Amino acid sequence: MCGIVAYTGKSLCRNLVLGGLARLEYRGYDSAGFVCIDQKHGQFSFDKEAGGSSPIERLTDKIHFDGTAGMAHTRWATHGMVDIKNAHPHFNCNKTIAVVHNGIIEGHEALREQILARGHQVVSTTDSELAAHLFNDEVEQHKDLKSAVIAFVSQIRGAFAFVFLLVEHPGTLIVIRHRSSIVIGIGNDEAFVASDFIAFADRTNRVVFMPDDTFAFVHHDTVEIYDFLGRPIPYSIQTLDQSYVEIDKGVFEHFMLKEIYEQKRAINRTIGFCKMLGNQSSEVFPHGNDQWAAPLDFNDSIWRQLGLSVEQVVGLRHINLVSAGTSWHAASIAQFFFEMICKIPTRVFLASEFRYMPFFPEQDSVYIVVSQSGETADTLEALRLINSHNVPTIAITNVASSSIVREAGGFLPMQAGPEISVASTKVFSTQLATLYWLANRIALERGLITTEEMYNAEEQLCVAAEVLESTIEMYKFRIIQDLAPKYMHYSHFIFLGRHISYPFALEASLKLKEISYIFAQCYPAGELKHGPIALIDEHTPVVIFSVLDDLLYRKLLSNAYEVKARNGHLVVFAFEGQDELISMADTAFVIPPVTPLLGPLAMTGLMQFFIYHITRQLGMPIDKPRNLAKSVTVE
Ligand code: F6R
Repeated sequence: MCGIVAYTGKSLCRNLVLGGLARLEYRGYDSAGFVCIDQKHGQFSFDKEAGGSSPIERLTDKIHFDGTAGMAHTRWATHGMVDIKNAHPHFNCNKTIAVVHNGIIEGHEALREQILARGHQVVSTTDSELAAHLFNDEVEQHKDLKSAVIAFVSQIRGAFAFVFLLVEHPGTLIVIRHRSSIVIGIGNDEAFVASDFIAFADRTNRVVFMPDDTFAFVHHDTVEIYDFLGRPIPYSIQTLDQSYVEIDKGVFEHFMLKEIYEQKRAINRTIGFCKMLGNQSSEVFPHGNDQWAAPLDFNDSIWRQLGLSVEQVVGLRHINLVSAGTSWHAASIAQFFFEMICKIPTRVFLASEFRYMPFFPEQDSVYIVVSQSGETADTLEALRLINSHNVPTIAITNVASSSIVREAGGFLPMQAGPEISVASTKVFSTQLATLYWLANRIALERGLITTEEMYNAEEQLCVAAEVLESTIEMYKFRIIQDLAPKYMHYSHFIFLGRHISYPFALEASLKLKEISYIFAQCYPAGELKHGPIALIDEHTPVVIFSVLDDLLYRKLLSNAYEVKARNGHLVVFAFEGQDELISMADTAFVIPPVTPLLGPLAMTGLMQFFIYHITRQLGMPIDKPRNLAKSVTVE
C-alpha cells in the first residue's frame, strides 16, 4: 500500500506531485507528506499531515513552497502509529537524504538496533525511516551512487519500492523496486515516478514499468536501469492507450451510492464487451472509461485473449480461483457457476492462504485470479507462485495496466469503470457478471450448452441487472425513512446464507463491517445449530439470504424457524413466492425471481443500498472507512 509520486524536470513540481498524490489516495490515507529541494539554500523543504479523513487535502492547502524536484507520499500504516513523525518522507540525520517507501522491510528490529548503534537519531517508529539512515551510510562509504545503492539493497529484505532524493544530486530520483510496483513516466523534459501511472497520466502516457529487482536513476531527460548487481538493464518505453479522466460524485452524496447506481450499466457494458470478445455478435457496446478499459484487439478470439487454446478449454479438468476480500466472495459464488454450468470441479482459494499451502500443479487446469485493482499483494504473489509452475493463468481485473494483468498468461477485463469508494460495489457485481459469462462461454465451447442457451444466459444477466436496480427503487423510501434509522441502533448482526447465498452473505457481512463498523458475523445457515445459535436474542438481527432452489429454500426455512423459536429478530432477502419465509420475518425484502444462479447478483443492489443507508445514518465516512485502503499492496 502507500502511494508514491515523484518528479524531476524543468517545471515546478508542487501541483504536479500533490495532484498526482490525490489520485493515489485509494492506496491509503493515514498520513501524507511532500518534500522538494530548495536549491537556493541547498536544503529540503517539506511538510506532513496525519490522521483525519483527508490528510492529502490539508497538506495541499498548506504547502506554498515549490521546487523542480520533489516527491510526495500517502501512507497506509504498517509499522508505527498514524502520526506526523511516522508520515513520509523520512530523512537521514542531517536531512540531506529524503526517502518515500511502499512495502515492508523485514527484520527491521535488528536493522534499527544496528542503526542506533551507529549513532543515528531515529525519530519515527517506522521501518521506512531506517532506509534513509542506512542509505546515508552507504552514500558516505561509496564514491558513486550506483555502488551505494547496490550495497544498500543487499542489506534490505521484504517488499519495497523506494524513491530517494538527495540534496547533493538535486535532479536525480533514485528508485529501487523489489516485489512492489512502481512506474516511471517519461515526459517532455521531465520525468515522474509513481506507484500507479494515473498519478501522472494527465501529463504523459509514455511509461517504463520497472522490472522487479532493479533500481533506476531517473533524470529529467534520461533513465538508467540496473539490476541489483549493477548490470545495465535494457528497457522499452510503452505508450499507454489510456488517459486520466477526473471523476466526481455528480449528484450523489457519496461515491459508494453513485457506484451502487452504476451497476446496471456496468453489467450491461460487461455483457456487451464479453459478447464482442466471444465473437458472437457484431454489436458495438461502449466500453468503460478509457482510463480503465483494456487495450484489446477485438478480432482476437476469446481464448487467445485468455492465453488458452481451444483444446485446453475443451480438456479442462480443474478450475481454480484465487482472490481476496470481496473478490474472493465473487469467486466463491462463481464456484457454483463453473461447477453447475461447466461441470468442472472448481476450487476457490484465499490468496493470502494459498501461498503458504502445498501446491500441486495439475495437468489440464487453469488458475483464474480475480482482483479489482490488479495490485493486491497476496493475489499477485499467488499468481507468481502459480506462474513459476507453468500452469495457465488468467487475470480478471478492473485495471488494465495493473501488475496482475501484466504477469498473468491471459486477461479478461471487467467493465466496471473506476471504482472510487473503498468498499467495493459495482466491481463485485461486474465480477459476478464476467464470471457467469465466462462459465457459459466455456460450457458452449465444450458443447454443454447451445448457442441459443448462451444468448439466453446473456439475456438472464441483463434481467438480473435490471432487478438489481429496480429493487433499490422499490425499497428506497422505506429504507431511508424507516429501516436505516431503525437498524442503525443494533450493535451486532448475524448473516446467514446457504449454498450460493452463503458467500453472498459473507459479502454482505463484510460490507456492513467495513463501512458502518457494526460487528457482523456470517455463518452457513446449516451451521447455526452447531454453536452460533447461542447468540440468538432479540437484540441481534439475523439476516437470511434466500436461494432459488426449492430444496435449499426449505432448509433455509427451517433455519429461519430456529431463529424465531428463540425470539430472534429476523430480516430476510427472499424471492417472490417464498411466502412462508417472508411472512415470518420482522423485515422482508422481496426480490423478483431470476435464473437461480443469478439470485445473488439480483440481490446485490438492495443489500448494498440497505447497508449504505445504515452507515449514512451513523454518520460514518462512507467512501473512506477508517484503516482501509482501496489497493492492498502489502502482504
Ligand atoms: C471490500 C474490498 C476488499 C477487496 C480486497 C481485494 O469492499 O474492496 O475486500 O476486495 O482488498 O482487492 P482486489 O479485488 O483489488 O484484489
